Amino acid sequence: MCPVKLRGRVAVVTGAGSGIGKVLATRLARDGASVVVADLKNYDVAAAEIAKSANARTLGLQVDVASEDDVARMAAETMKTFGRVDILVNNAAYFAPIELRPFERIDAAEWRKVMEVNTLGVFLCCRACVPHMRSGGYGRIINLASGAAIKGVPLFLHYVASKGAVIAMTRALAREVGKDGITANALAPGFTLSESMLKHAQQLKHGEGSKASRAIARDEHPEDLVGAVSFLASEDAAFITGQTLVVDGGSAMV
Ligand SMILES: NC(=O)c1ccc[n+]([C@@H]2O[C@H](COP(=O)([O-])OP(=O)(O)OC[C@H]3O[C@@H](n4cnc5c(N)ncnc54)[C@H](O)[C@@H]3O)[C@@H](O)[C@H]2O)c1
Repeated sequence: MCPVKLRGRVAVVTGAGSGIGKVLATRLARDGASVVVADLKNYDVAAAEIAKSANARTLGLQVDVASEDDVARMAAETMKTFGRVDILVNNAAYFAPIELRPFERIDAAEWRKVMEVNTLGVFLCCRACVPHMRSGGYGRIINLASGAAIKGVPLFLHYVASKGAVIAMTRALAREVGKDGITANALAPGFTLSESMLKHAQQLKHGEGSKASRAIARDEHPEDLVGAVSFLASEDAAFITGQTLVVDGGSAMV
């Protein structure tokens, strides 16, 4: 890790109050970025913890990524506090609360909820942040997808569809923002032992098979994802866009 790699950069990480998002936000802060921790809950505690552990500037904001007003406020508060937006990590998702079930038993209300957070939320955050990336002359968008959309994992069809949409959206967005020097890439983790997954017996059982399917047959932890995000957010990744980087120990090979 290079402590000055992202010095002067400002990163917005959604869903950074806990889980994978918090770990990614911590790494970007350790790389030198100022970090906005946007979440429905735990945003202030996480922001304080990240500031302390990384000796970085942070801002905790209560944000529902599916709310246009909240997302507009998130961009405005970021600009007011830090004066720029360089990196957006769209990590927030309706994921842990999902009960696994055959597709015939998914109701339309839950389908809409998953799509609102996981796809509309990504769109709204990109729409709010890209103008500031353009004016600041630097832009890195990193969207959390999932290996489940590549492999076709059963029992959460709405979630898998939403993550497939994230991959497609990332590609099309990359083409729209490339002329401004902004990159958009998707990061697809495999089944990862995040805080919420460790508490979710049904998901843990469902993910048991993942380990054996990997070339590197061990559990995946949030820390396994930080190197990819740090790289994609950096100057070094300026010519990489529209891609899906799978970080899963070699389960899905694309
Ligand atoms: N854990 C895994 O196995 C795994 C695998 C592949 C992809 N992913 C993806 O990685 C990301 C993080 O996963 P995780 O395991 O930490 O998930 P998680 O469900 O534990 O955490 C998601 C975070 O997003 C926040 N959030 C939820 N809805 C929100 C909203 N509407 N607005 C703002 N914040 C909101 C939650 O409060 C939480 O802090 C998600 O995009 C997930 O889909 C996870």
